[in-house]
Amino acid sequence: MATVRLPGLIDAHVHLREPGYTHKEDFYTGTAAALAGGVTAVLDMPNTVPPTDTPARFAEKAALAASKAVCDVGLFVGATTDQLDAYLPIAQRACGLKIYVSETFGSLRIEDLGLLHRFFRSWRERAAGDALSLSKGGKSQVADTDERTTQFAIRNSQFGPVAVHAEELMLPVCLNLSHLYGVPLHIVHVTRRSEIELIRRAKEQGYPVTCEVTPHHLFLSSDDLSRLGARGDMRPRLAAPDDVAALWENLPIVDIFATDHAPHTLTEKALPTPPPGVPGVETLLPLLLTAVHDGRLTLDDILLRCVENPRRIYGLPPQPDTFVEVDVDARYELTDASQRTKAGWTPFAGHSVFGKVEKVTLRGQVAYDGHRILAEPGSGKVLFQSV
Ligand code: DOR
Ligand code: ZN
Repeated sequence: MATVRLPGLIDAHVHLREPGYTHKEDFYTGTAAALAGGVTAVLDMPNTVPPTDTPARFAEKAALAASKAVCDVGLFVGATTDQLDAYLPIAQRACGLKIYVSETFGSLRIEDLGLLHRFFRSWRERAAGDALSLSKGGKSQVADTDERTTQFAIRNSQFGPVAVHAEELMLPVCLNLSHLYGVPLHIVHVTRRSEIELIRRAKEQGYPVTCEVTPHHLFLSSDDLSRLGARGDMRPRLAAPDDVAALWENLPIVDIFATDHAPHTLTEKALPTPPPGVPGVETLLPLLLTAVHDGRLTLDDILLRCVENPRRIYGLPPQPDTFVEVDVDARYELTDASQRTKAGWTPFAGHSVFGKVEKVTLRGQVAYDGHRILAEPGSGKVLFQSV
């Protein structure tokens, strides 16, 4: 048995479902599941009801998270057609702006090119304004408003990227807008060979783009669909084995492993039109450690993509005295019954994995002892709220 001490992991893409869908998950159950998986910070998506698209709705969500979360939580704002720029005054308190340009769960969707222009332009102006005011206050090295330095200015302000769910032909549209406006772009859950190869080319050309892949798109494929049924249904869908191979081939340009933890109940998954999405926050680390065991990844690959890069890309603050002790040799079977998510299942049920989280310490306090969540609701911080 070998216990290894790691920094707390960051899952930069989760849906904790509050407000609006608390029968699926809430800030307590979702962050408790995170801790049990060795994750000490999560970034929560805006496709709740109501969506996180105005200062009032953002404040309501932040208050819910502040009273219930047991790990740290960053919140995205979402681009919506009816609220447009309403979110701008609190943009700096968000970890990023999420734009859904491809079809998924919930009502958020921007399909109009004119609107996409508007979101990229206003995010850039807001971020550039922030960088300028920082420089006037003497807190930043950024002293120049000239075009070439605006990108630099955005990255050095506390502004997060624009994160997009953009599949197939929508991907080059978003890459182009990000390039033209000089706005850092993060492509969530990349799945296809055509997409990862386009991102590689864009990176080679110096586009300000980063990307993430999920464990389910790395470890499952369309070959698993007949076995999994609705448990294998998510957006983007599971891709062909050749697409999965392309993600592995292009690992050097994959910046983040994030789960797209998207809990839905099994009752909902049994409906004639099941909602797309799968839980994942608590299986992230064991699945990745199993790939280390199998020689497909190194521990450094995991730490780069689950700690260092998410922190850099989203400008997340360090978590002092925070670490995870994990027995990397412990082998066990993932089961629905052992999941802490309110959804109570995992698409990886029956998979044999390595890596048991034995203890999680958050800011010097034992938050999880390998069996029980010891952290009090509200001990997790909502990030970026003091700006
Ligand atoms: O399958 C998915 N479900 N993909 C997404 O992008 C959203 C998510 C959800 O919120 O359920
Ligand atoms: Zn998502």
